[in-house]
Amino acid sequence: MMRILGIETSCDETAASVVALDDAGTPQILSNVVYSQIDDHAAFGGVVPEIAARAHVEALDGIVATALAEAGTVLGDIDGVAATAGPGLIGGLIVGLMTAKAVAAAAGKPLIPVNHLEGHALTARLTDGLEFPYLLLLVSGGHTQIILVRGVGDYERWASTIDDALGEAFDKTAKLLGLPYPGGPNVEKQALAGDPSRFAFPRPLRGEARLDFSFSGLKTAVRQAATAIAPLSRQDVCDICAAFQLAVTETLVERVGRSLARFRGEFPTIGEPALVVAGGVAANKAIRTALEELCAGRSMRLVAPPLALCTDNAAMIAWAGIERIRARMTATDAMTFTPRSRW
Ligand code: KG4
Ligand code: ZN
Repeated sequence: MMRILGIETSCDETAASVVALDDAGTPQILSNVVYSQIDDHAAFGGVVPEIAARAHVEALDGIVATALAEAGTVLGDIDGVAATAGPGLIGGLIVGLMTAKAVAAAAGKPLIPVNHLEGHALTARLTDGLEFPYLLLLVSGGHTQIILVRGVGDYERWASTIDDALGEAFDKTAKLLGLPYPGGPNVEKQALAGDPSRFAFPRPLRGEARLDFSFSGLKTAVRQAATAIAPLSRQDVCDICAAFQLAVTETLVERVGRSLARFRGEFPTIGEPALVVAGGVAANKAIRTALEELCAGRSMRLVAPPLALCTDNAAMIAWAGIERIRARMTATDAMTFTPRSRW
């Protein structure tokens, strides 16, 4: 039996978790504590790095203690401490990694610095026991990526965004329309009552060979449409949201569709390959339904881990630590590892 404490502080969630792996290789999440700073940042319409760092300092000790207590463990029971070391906001990373080093040193247990993206990439193995390789679509407030996950530490990025992240595009669209932060859920709600055909928003980078995303042109188109018909009625807001959501959904389906074809070409012998969706935007029902239809039509399996585990959390960091220990891929110089805002 192995028990790993995970710590995540790369953005605006302060999180700690204990994940266990029994001798048969079955994982169990013993605790998963997430303190969301949304209320601290809402007034600013987005995450303010300085406020985030200070909130992490205030909350983290208590969150770690709660995670240990909820797991029914004490520090002496822990076999290692895994902490997000990047990428992310540097202030939060420093708080999390320094705390992890102190806890690891006090407990006399190894520290495992974890790449936040690796945490997202491996979550489906914790929740669904997925085998390698699989394709990951990560869409959140900070990331928009399509990643080929071949094995622990073996990732190939097929697509990323050249400007805004998809969640960021939802948030900015919401802000522009006067909807509260975080924008994604509110845009989705308004879109339900909207007519998407009223506005013809662009499908950025369509027709290009590369798989990358771009959302800033779409944002500009939304702003121009909104300015042209201001002041906006309730119905105007709903129609813009619906047209925006349709544009991003179609863009995702087109890029992911091409990625699935490429995956099949590289792994022709895998019977029913898996596409994993993760990140806060994966909560969007229109997007999820479109991806389900896409996968069904390609004899692929859509794997969507429970939302609490595919938005930022520390269980995925603890799990990545376990995967690295199992694969004997832990850094030997962990205690001198410095946080990397870009990694
Ligand atoms: O993974 P996540 O919780 O964390 C960070 O990226 O930090 O993702 C948050 C993002 C926000 O941009 C939010 O607006 C978006 O996910 N989001 C959504 C929905 N729920 C959350 N976007 C579209 N539709 C939703 N239902
Ligand atoms: Zn994340």
